[in-house]
Amino acid sequence: MKKQAYNYFKLQAERNNESKQHSGELTRLFPSESEIPEKFRLNSNLDWQRILINGQITPWKGALTEVFSPIYIRKGDSLDRKRIGSYPEMTPLVASKALDSASRAFSSGKGKWPLFAVSKRIESIEMFLERLENQKENILRTLIWEIAKPYHELEDEFERTKQYIEQVIKVAYQKEKDSLLPRREKGIMGFIHDEPYGIVLSLGPYNYPLFETFSLVLPALLAGNVVIIKPPKFGVLFFDFLLEAFQDCFPPGVVNIISGDGKKIIEPLMKSGEVDILAFIGSAETANRLINLHPRKNRLHSLLGLGAKNAAIVLPDADLDVVVPESVLGALAFNGQRCAALKIFFVHQKIEEAFRERLLETVSKTSLGMPWMEKVRITPMADPERIPYLHELVTDALNKGAKIGNKSGGKSLESIFVPTVLYQLNSKMRIYWEEQFAPIIPVVSYHDLKEPVAYLSNSPFGQQLSIFGTKTQTLIELINLVKNQVSRININTKCQRGPDLFPFTGKKDSAHGDFSISNILNYFSSKAVIAARETELSEALFQSLQEPKNLDIKQRS
Ligand code: G3H
Repeated sequence: MKKQAYNYFKLQAERNNESKQHSGELTRLFPSESEIPEKFRLNSNLDWQRILINGQITPWKGALTEVFSPIYIRKGDSLDRKRIGSYPEMTPLVASKALDSASRAFSSGKGKWPLFAVSKRIESIEMFLERLENQKENILRTLIWEIAKPYHELEDEFERTKQYIEQVIKVAYQKEKDSLLPRREKGIMGFIHDEPYGIVLSLGPYNYPLFETFSLVLPALLAGNVVIIKPPKFGVLFFDFLLEAFQDCFPPGVVNIISGDGKKIIEPLMKSGEVDILAFIGSAETANRLINLHPRKNRLHSLLGLGAKNAAIVLPDADLDVVVPESVLGALAFNGQRCAALKIFFVHQKIEEAFRERLLETVSKTSLGMPWMEKVRITPMADPERIPYLHELVTDALNKGAKIGNKSGGKSLESIFVPTVLYQLNSKMRIYWEEQFAPIIPVVSYHDLKEPVAYLSNSPFGQQLSIFGTKTQTLIELINLVKNQVSRININTKCQRGPDLFPFTGKKDSAHGDFSISNILNYFSSKAVIAARETELSEALFQSLQEPKNLDIKQRS
């Protein structure tokens, strides 16, 4: 298919020769077919034409959604968008079958899976992890083409996913062990244990289609729920490699996968009122729309990872040797397509020029290219359709007095958006407030800390903040001023989710719930208590309750 994407660069190219030269350079970033390394070639298209519902894998005969890679293929001077496959464009009817199948599998908590001992659920999940490992190369190769994430980052994502689940399994064991000890307080004794909620609808994001899908889905299953997974818009094809694993590792109906137009297939599910938990990572707008469709809002529980516009505050005494590399990593890793990316920099005016010079030098050395290149940082954007929006943000800032610091900043070609350092910014500009989710580095020069502090209070987001400085007392004062605005303050380091044992959450419109290893299971189960006065009869009853034949709590140890 010939490219359809917005081509700002070519518009510019018509205006001047310099742009033509840049256009040529950017064109050459894309590979010709023969330049694609053998290991990363897709030898055939990935046409996913099967569905998994109610434990059955059946051929899909309905409409398909075609998938095109953000990696264009160079042919002479032109670029073609590469078709890499297709997936089932399911109808609301098929989605409702998935819901019925999930509902039967849960059967108000009387289904096979929710009644399984935790140790048995763990066995299934460990078996699934092994099957996932067997598909590693297929999955990573597919993801390279779907979202153009650098290969080494995909490898990290894969390992992180496995480690996350292995550690959640340990937490599950411990929780079960703890639940075996009756608690005693004020003459009342009680068994306190976890019970699943029911049907989880899981919607992960395209920037971490593997980690942020499985770090929701597998804990949800571990807790005894059943799931309906809707893969993200990009990063969907690899699910085809896992259908047999889902079928073999879990009882029928426990895992259901739906794909297609989210509006068409997700909205009816929410409207049915049958979804118990919405596990969602994406925009607050979409989350609110979905939640509002649910007719029984008190029944619906939500675990939400939403937008963020994490700021960095660079104090006048900051060590630029530390600030600059952390800033570049924080802003540009995976093209800035991370919710935790640094998306605005407040730099004290005393060092703003020095910071900018060093920043520009480092940005100029940042390597642009294809995701299989070693040490590549900037790759094609997973969603090239967002590039016109990025130009809007840059143009708006330039019209209001901002400047672009780097020579090629503000340029794009098809899916490549060149890292762009914007400075001389003020609060009238859209980039000051809006989440770019892209390799744009906005730098604001401040003379009074009141400006970044006010920014944090006025921002709708509240995920994380980075503070760079070397004076302990100043750091303490600033921490105290802003600690109620964000959920994590990073000192002399970029913002990030990891280590995954740390709480990962957000204030205001940034999150609802905590995605950490330690806490994730709490969002997928509710506490159930059996309580009685401490009498001889109760002691005998509790003793018997622990017997496997009477209550499955004991079996789970
Ligand atoms: O997209 C948001 C990610 O969850 C943040 O995680 O800091 O590992 O990129 P990260």
